[in-house]
Amino acid sequence: MEQNENIIEVSNLKLSFDDRVILDGISFQVKPKSIFVILGGSGSGKTTILRNLLGLIKPDSGNIRIFGTNIVGLSDDELYGVRKRIGMVFQGGALFNSMTLGENVALPLEEYTTYPSSVIDSIVDWNLNLVDLLHAKHLLPAQLSGGMKKRASIARALSMNPEMLFFDEHTTGLDPVMAAELDEIILRLKRELDITVVVVTHDMTSIRRIADCGIMLYDGHIITRGTLAEMEASTDIRAIEFFRNHEAKEKEKINGDK
Ligand SMILES: Nc1ncnc2c1ncn2[C@@H]1O[C@H](COP(=O)(O)OP(=O)(O)O)[C@@H](O)[C@H]1O
Ligand SMILES: [Mg+2]
Repeated sequence: MEQNENIIEVSNLKLSFDDRVILDGISFQVKPKSIFVILGGSGSGKTTILRNLLGLIKPDSGNIRIFGTNIVGLSDDELYGVRKRIGMVFQGGALFNSMTLGENVALPLEEYTTYPSSVIDSIVDWNLNLVDLLHAKHLLPAQLSGGMKKRASIARALSMNPEMLFFDEHTTGLDPVMAAELDEIILRLKRELDITVVVVTHDMTSIRRIADCGIMLYDGHIITRGTLAEMEASTDIRAIEFFRNHEAKEKEKINGDK
């Protein structure tokens, strides 16, 4: 792939569930080594876009080029080749409770590689260090805070050396300090590993910290796009309301913490 080519190119994506239009002609591009945000209220179609990008659901029409390959119409085997280059960070962390943090992070390496255990151990240490969790290697998930679990889930996704990471509502359920730590790590991954990040969120504080550019959805349509400043300058009444509502929520949160 050329350096300046888009790493994701979605064109005219359409999807209906039971005659209900969920995505209505979505087009956007993501530049490599950037942090791209998908904004929008609940039910606007954000998670559905991520699931399309992972090939977990197929659109009714439109194209999705990832790493230069149109993934619409690929066989499961071909899709696997694309998907293994993408790390997905799940909401709850999705760790196995009976295994230590180190064992959880080692799991994909044990399953999908033939590396000797000494090599696996070094990769695990390296990835735990990247998310500031090396000290917690021998703890069980029950002994970790919500923020630590999210970071652990990033370390596990990093095991397979992904070129892209997807996050769905990454700061949900985290207090402001943990959310800030998580954003700091996302910025570090972009800076130090040249990873491309796609984040679904409506957390304005986080968007302000990490977003390079993105799109805002409303009812399956894109209503504004670009940098945060460009989106905030939108004259679309639905975009104005989104920013007004989420800004107000944020102020409430800050006042509530005092
Ligand atoms: N598997 C499904 N079957 C039917 N409707 C669905 C399915 N998945 C999502 N939807 C509907 O699609 C719309 C968008 O959902 P979603 O992408 O999860 O929104 P968001 O992540 O922005 O909250 C919602 O109205 C939701 O009810
Ligand atoms: Mg969602």
